[in-house]
Amino acid sequence: MSSGQSYSLGRLLKALPLASLASAATLNSNYKFNPLEHLGGVAPYFESQDPQASPDVPQGCKASRAAYLVRHAAIAANDFDYETYLEPFVSKVENKTIDWSKIPTLNFLADWSAPVSEEEEELLTRVGRLEATRLGVDLFFRYSHLKLPSKVYTSSAERTYKSAQSLVRGFEFDDNTMNVVSIYEGKQSGADSLTPYKACPAYSSSAGSDESSVYKEKYTKPIMARLNDLAPEFNFTMNDIYGMMEMCGYESVIRGKSPFCDLDLFSPDDWLAWEYTEDVRYHYNVGYGNEVAGAVGLPWFNATASLLMSEAPEAEDLYVSFTHRELPPMVLVAMGLFNNSAYGGSPDKVNETMPLDRINYRRAWKASSILPFLSNLAVERLNCTGSYGYDDGEYYRVLVNSAPQPLDACADGPGTTCSRAGFEKYLQERVDMFSGPNGFSEKCGVSYKNSTDSLSIYTDSGVGNGTIVGKRHENYRF
Ligand SMILES: *[C@@H]1O[C@H](CO)[C@@H](O)[C@H](O)[C@H]1NC(C)=O
Ligand SMILES: *[C@@H]1O[C@H](CO)[C@@H](O)[C@H](O)[C@H]1NC(C)=O
Ligand SMILES: *[C@@H]1O[C@H](CO)[C@@H](O)[C@H](O)[C@H]1NC(C)=O
Ligand SMILES: *[C@@H]1O[C@H](CO)[C@@H](O)[C@H](O)[C@H]1NC(C)=O
Ligand SMILES: *[C@@H]1O[C@H](CO)[C@@H](O)[C@H](O)[C@H]1NC(C)=O
Ligand SMILES: *[C@@H]1O[C@H](CO)[C@@H](O)[C@H](O)[C@H]1NC(C)=O
Ligand SMILES: *[C@@H]1O[C@H](CO)[C@@H](O)[C@H](O)[C@H]1NC(C)=O
Ligand SMILES: *[C@@H]1O[C@H](CO)[C@@H](O)[C@H](O)[C@H]1NC(C)=O
Repeated sequence: MSSGQSYSLGRLLKALPLASLASAATLNSNYKFNPLEHLGGVAPYFESQDPQASPDVPQGCKASRAAYLVRHAAIAANDFDYETYLEPFVSKVENKTIDWSKIPTLNFLADWSAPVSEEEEELLTRVGRLEATRLGVDLFFRYSHLKLPSKVYTSSAERTYKSAQSLVRGFEFDDNTMNVVSIYEGKQSGADSLTPYKACPAYSSSAGSDESSVYKEKYTKPIMARLNDLAPEFNFTMNDIYGMMEMCGYESVIRGKSPFCDLDLFSPDDWLAWEYTEDVRYHYNVGYGNEVAGAVGLPWFNATASLLMSEAPEAEDLYVSFTHRELPPMVLVAMGLFNNSAYGGSPDKVNETMPLDRINYRRAWKASSILPFLSNLAVERLNCTGSYGYDDGEYYRVLVNSAPQPLDACADGPGTTCSRAGFEKYLQERVDMFSGPNGFSEKCGVSYKNSTDSLSIYTDSGVGNGTIVGKRHENYRF
């Protein structure tokens, strides 16, 4: 591969299978590899088609309602990543006088400058705004026969709020028909917010670091040796390697492309190792390896399922809510999706499905499919008439980044759908699994007063009507 290949914005946004990125040299192989699709939580939005079931509704079916939970769109590095990985590497590059121009695969560093500075941390990038606006347009296309929502809900941080505004700009027809409602990210909200993990004392944002650093140390060692062979004066460390690979994601969503994504610098196997390190971390942080994950995720699923099944006339056709990266995967655990042990394996051995010394290539739990920037989880209510072989009636379906996710406990509808009766039974099973002693307040060890195990923002008139959005974008730096 030449180092002149371009990871252009167009490609980034279309997330095409970049045919030219990597190809094996043999006659019959059509091996392809795109690092942007293996970047876990710092991947630009893309639809992994995992599984490949068609995103279209089954024959005879039409969505009659839907609810979306969406992670904010791309930002210019979060605080932790900036301080731990990006800034130390950048400052080493700036301080050391090394003639990079002669060094193969690293020669771009001769005139590279950091894409992000401290004051830009956490802010939505231009690519992020575009991603969110495009999702608004996509939702309009997908649900053009439904009523536009009058409100879009978001947790109160700037990056989630601005993502919601950008989505509305793509979604509404005329100005100011949709409001954005901000839900405070409180530490004592119980489960009644879009950031319930922040009100869960038993949740720690650093969970999974120890476990993931085992494989991180292993896979970075040979890369460190290789790069230190090329540029001994730089003294590449484990965190430098990890940070350079993370920079591929962040720089791509800030500048539209990044030289760190080059497959001559890091090979496909290097990227798969970076990705696995992150998957181990998310497994213990927000996944099946964290005892509180299902309890924190259940209230959103329960509240959403109730809204979709309700016959109340004031219910909206569409609900869209923005949150941070933690909540969607926790909801997936509450729903039993992307479960490594789903087809065998006992639940008390789930940690063994993510070994620390090697990659489980066959895992279902893949952060790149679950939580790229703008990752979205949808539950749809469908009205099906004339689906051959199935009764007319109400069916339910789940999508993650537009890929339908069959429910193992309920598969009695056309395609990947589930009947209303089956869905009610499945919901009750999930609620029972994460209620009482296994519910939010108990599992989280809440000691503040007035905790609650359920989410009521969608029906509570106290949250208000929000504010209009307007077409004007404020100035922004990226
Ligand atoms: C780079 O130089 C600056 C200013 O002299 C210093 O504050 C910083 O610690 C140095 N960073 C590294 C990684 O050496
Ligand atoms: C390389 O960096 C590591 C970690 O910062 C440090 O412990 C070590 O002394 C450095 N080695 C050299 C030769 O500078
Ligand atoms: C994951 O799958 C196993 C095996 O079917 C099941 O026992 C376990 O309850 C599932 N975990 C969750 C949280 O649903
Ligand atoms: C998985 O590991 C985590 C962290 O050590 C632990 O809290 C959890 O109980 C383990 N899960 C199972 C099912 O053993
Ligand atoms: C379902 O679709 C049928 C046929 O289009 C229609 O008659 C019926 O009113 C719809 N039901 C709902 C609940 O939307
Ligand atoms: C808990 O709720 C009660 C009743 O709404 C209220 O009077 C009280 O101030 C609340 N306490 C806290 C700590 O918020
Ligand atoms: C689930 O939703 C129902 C109906 O809205 C509600 O009555 C119940 O309290 C909720 N339970 C949990 C654990 O969220
Ligand atoms: C919100 O909108 C509804 C319907 O338009 C209206 O009845 C209600 O008074 C509004 N609430 C607030 C707090 O403005």
